[in-house]
Order: sequence, then C-alpha cells, then structure tokens
Amino acid sequence: MKTTISVIKADIGSLAGHHVVHPDTMAAANKVLAEAKKNGVIIDYYITNVGDDMELIMTHNRGELDTKVHETAWDAFKEATKVAKDLGLYAAGQDLLSDTFSGNLKGMGPGIAEMEIEERPAEPIAIFMADKTEPGAFNYPQYKMFADPFNTAGLVIDPTMHEGYKFEILDVYAGESVTLNAPEEIYDILALIGTPSQYVIRRVYRKADNMIASVTSIERLNLLAGKYVGKDDPVMIVRVQHGFPALGEVLEAFSFPYLVPGWMRGSHYGPLMPVSQRDARATRFDGPPRLIGLGFNVKNGRLVGPSDLFDDPAFDETRRLAEQIADYMRRHGPFMPHRLEPTEMEYTTLPLIQQKLKARFKKEAGVAEAKKSIYEKQVEGGD
Ligand code: F6R
Ligand code: MG
Ligand code: MG
Repeated sequence: MKTTISVIKADIGSLAGHHVVHPDTMAAANKVLAEAKKNGVIIDYYITNVGDDMELIMTHNRGELDTKVHETAWDAFKEATKVAKDLGLYAAGQDLLSDTFSGNLKGMGPGIAEMEIEERPAEPIAIFMADKTEPGAFNYPQYKMFADPFNTAGLVIDPTMHEGYKFEILDVYAGESVTLNAPEEIYDILALIGTPSQYVIRRVYRKADNMIASVTSIERLNLLAGKYVGKDDPVMIVRVQHGFPALGEVLEAFSFPYLVPGWMRGSHYGPLMPVSQRDARATRFDGPPRLIGLGFNVKNGRLVGPSDLFDDPAFDETRRLAEQIADYMRRHGPFMPHRLEPTEMEYTTLPLIQQKLKARFKKEAGVAEAKKSIYEKQVEGGD
C-alpha cells in the first residue's frame, strides 16, 4: 500500500498584522481534519504554522491531487477563515482566491507539496516551511543537499547515493519543466536555478532507481492572482537517510542564512533564518524570512513525531549571522539590491506608484528611447 504525504498551506489571516497564526483558527482547522481522520479520508495529520501561514500536514492512501483530501484542506481553511473573520484578524481569507472548490486546489491560492511513496521499513522525513519568501527559496538548499559533496558527504562515500540525483525544474513563467542530472549537468542546473524567481526545483529523484527524494510547492500566488496578494510562502518535503541525504546533511544546507526574496511587502531580499516553532513569528520588518523544520517518521501512514529541527543551539550562529545580514541589508533602505529588481517589483504594488508618476514625465529631445528594458533584451538574447 502506498502512502501519500500532503502538505498544504494557506495564509487565511493572522494576529497583529501579517505576523502569526491565531490558535483559534488552528483549532477550527483541527476540527475539520479530525473529522476527516475519523471518516478515513486521511490517516493522520499535524497542524502547525510559520508566521502567518497555516500548515496542514496530512497522510493518506489516496495519491496526489486527490479531490477528497484537497477538499478537506479547503474546508479546513474555510472554517479557519470564518473564525479569522469573527475575531477580526488581519487579511482574513487572504490566500483563498476562489469561493468555490472544484476538483483540486491547484490554482486556488494554497501552496501544495505532495509525495506518494512506498514506505521504506523506516521512513524518516523532514518538512520545511517558510514565511515571507517564495518557492525558489528552496533551490539553494536542495542543490546543496543533493548535488554538493561539500555539504553532503554521502554523495562521495555512500554507494547508494554515488550515482547522484535528478532535478525536475519548472519555469514558473512559461509553465514548462525540464529534468537535469547531477552531477553530470550541474552547470546547466545552476544556470537555471540561480534565477529562483523563474526556475523552481519541483522534485528531486534518486537517479539509481527513480525514487522520489523531495518535493516543493511551486504555486506563485501573485502570478495566479495577477496582482500582489501576499508572498507565496513555500513548503518542502524531504526523505532522509538510507540512500537519501542524512537528516544532518539536509539540515546542513540551511546552516548558511542565504538571501531570499520576500520579507517586507514581498519586495526585499533578506536572509532566511532557521528558527524553532516557538520563534516562527514575523517581527522585524515583517521578518526576517523564517524557516521551520519538523522531523517525522511515517509508519503505515501514521505521523510519528514531530521533532522541532531548528530548536537547537547548533543553529545559533546561523541565526546570529542572519541578524547581522538583516542589519546590513536594512541599511540600504529602499535601494536595490535590498529592494527587489524591477521585474519582480511588477508583482508588488509599486506599479501603482509608477503609474501615478507617468503623467509627470516629459519627452527629452536627443535622448534615445530604448525599445525594451535591458533585462528584456538579455532574455531574448538581443543586442
Ligand atoms: C509580506 C507581507 C507583509 C505585508 C505588509 C503590508 O509577504 O505579508 O510584509 O506586505 O505587512 O501589509 P498590508 O499591505 O496588508 O498593510
Ligand atoms: Mg506568509
Ligand atoms: Mg501573508
């Protein structure tokens, strides 16, 4: 019997700004999931939050994109939204882009990461959930985990990992995907995933036997909604140990607080700070972007755990460096490269301001007008 792990998340409103999920909304979602467990729709579940995002971790035997499971998540978010509205929480119902559920949650706002697996005799997994950033934020650590021997010792010394991994990369603008092999094609992989706003690693497979190793949510809410409705805070499921990176190799990938887009108003680069569940709240400048990790074992669909993976002094230095980087970046104020590049700002509220100013510009004789922005030319390979 196969087990499916579904992690589905949405921001349905939060306390005191885009800051933290209110426990009463989690209780409302819990009722729906408890009922679904009783009725046999799901086998087990765990509800948590990172910042303003509610995270539903569910297991079942129904496969990916299952209507009943997705409807359960939708109902949980809807019930939680009712409570959020009742309590007058901020941005209640924010990520639910539609009023009616139809088939599955794709394109409806919530972020989804699902993985159908044949459980190994012991099936340890790690689930990562971030607030104030976007799906491409998991490109860097996945590369470290599955392709960088300086991070993952097993790539060199474990025969079951030595052949490497396959990366399925999605172009979120074109709606196309490509699968590339590591280590042979790592330069090609990096050529794409180094632009994480466009190219997102969706799945990683072990090359030797095609076994699924990781899956990431790829929904970009702003691209779906056509306007800024909050950032597309991502989730990722990673299988660990015994032919996959060890838990410690997976966590090692987060020991460097690399810069990710998001943070305040979804418009700034900032360091991704791994924190404990207790510290999973967005505070300074609505951040800095935060990451939590929960470790489970899955047994016949049962979720054993979790262990709060970053609740550990071993990550204190990472957090300290993240705070230093936050200070450094903040001192740029509204200037790039703290503020995102213009192409990414198109998906924020900045165009409204630019529109207003447009009428005040006047033509300058003798100054050549570029037909396209420098960026567009580069993309087309033009001069
Ligand atoms: C970022 C985020 C927050 C808000 C900011 C302004 O993803 O959710 O940083 O963008 O707090 O929020 P509004 O416009 O709702 O006042
Ligand atoms: Mg959020
Ligand atoms: Mg939000």
